[in-house]
Amino acid sequence: MGDKTILDVKDLSTHYFTSKGVVKALDDVSFQLKGGKSLGVAGESGCGKSTMAYSLLKMVQPPGRIVKGSINLDGMEVTKLDENSARKKLRWQKVSMVFQGAMDIMTPVYTVGHQMKEPLRYLMDITGDEAEEICKKYLDMVDLDFELFNRYPHELSGGQKQRIIIATALLLEPDVVILDEPTTALDVVVEARIMNDLKILKKQLDNGMIFITHDLSILAEISDDLAVMYAGWIVELGDSKKIYRDPKHPYTKKLIAAIPRLHVDIDRLEYIPGAPPELTNPPKGCRFHPRCEHAFGRCNKEEPEEHDVDGILVKCHLYDERGN
Ligand SMILES: Nc1ncnc2c1ncn2[C@@H]1O[C@H](COP(=O)(O)OP(=O)(O)OP(=O)(O)O)[C@@H](O)[C@H]1O
Ligand SMILES: [Mg+2]
Repeated sequence: MGDKTILDVKDLSTHYFTSKGVVKALDDVSFQLKGGKSLGVAGESGCGKSTMAYSLLKMVQPPGRIVKGSINLDGMEVTKLDENSARKKLRWQKVSMVFQGAMDIMTPVYTVGHQMKEPLRYLMDITGDEAEEICKKYLDMVDLDFELFNRYPHELSGGQKQRIIIATALLLEPDVVILDEPTTALDVVVEARIMNDLKILKKQLDNGMIFITHDLSILAEISDDLAVMYAGWIVELGDSKKIYRDPKHPYTKKLIAAIPRLHVDIDRLEYIPGAPPELTNPPKGCRFHPRCEHAFGRCNKEEPEEHDVDGILVKCHLYDERGN
């Protein structure tokens, strides 16, 4: 696939129509993903990361729905698919997802093998033996023994379960694999090992990958590009190492400063004052302005545009006059 854009998301908005009002969970989000590349998505809890992932799978449940924008996945317009086509043509084959908290929803009554083979048997015209061969290949890729195939979920560790779920997401060789907080429920040692394996996997595979996590420090290592989300917006987007080294948006700066580092006096750890806004009634102007120490005149009135600052897209008024 090389340098070909496989996923092109434009002005995507997804809202939840609740009795308390319209939750603007995702607003005018745009980004692209190339084959063999990975995009990291970071941001505080509730900023719309999972909503974005569900939108890409055309799986937003009522009261939510995609209200605007387009998702072009290798020529297929995802926003226009009905449920039947999404099931037959999109999910698992074109885009798959490791769901947030997925390891808790493995069915206890079926073996690992049964659960892995299910999407293969449903979507491909193959025999049980052929399905088993494919599962074996991917179990191997995530560093698991084929012996686990006949076990039940309760006979596995959390790390093993998570690896099985990752292997299952890869089975049909989708163009895009989304991993929503794939390691948050695990201890740091297992987390580091799985992240390391994912890094190796990424090199072997042609898929585009989207890594979602609130932990920005992981993403600098594993993702080519980085999208920083705040209150339903992407506020900064571009090369992940560049952003990590030299963040432009005041929110990204705060997020990075808040990462605990060894050898740094714990008293000096920064935090972001206040809390993310209610998305039924987000702040006027820039959604970050009530928490931003650089906010000035226009920030509480006008929505900022996206500015190209050294190849990084930054949605912030600070870059209006100053350029870079
Ligand atoms: N089914 C729903 N009905 C109403 N509001 C919802 C629903 N699902 C999500 N939301 C709201 O949409 C916003 C975005 O939620 P989302 O789960 O996408 O955030 P997130 O960034 O994935 O958070 P986390 O890091 O905690 O997983 C939040 O304000 C959330 O309360
Ligand atoms: Mg989430």
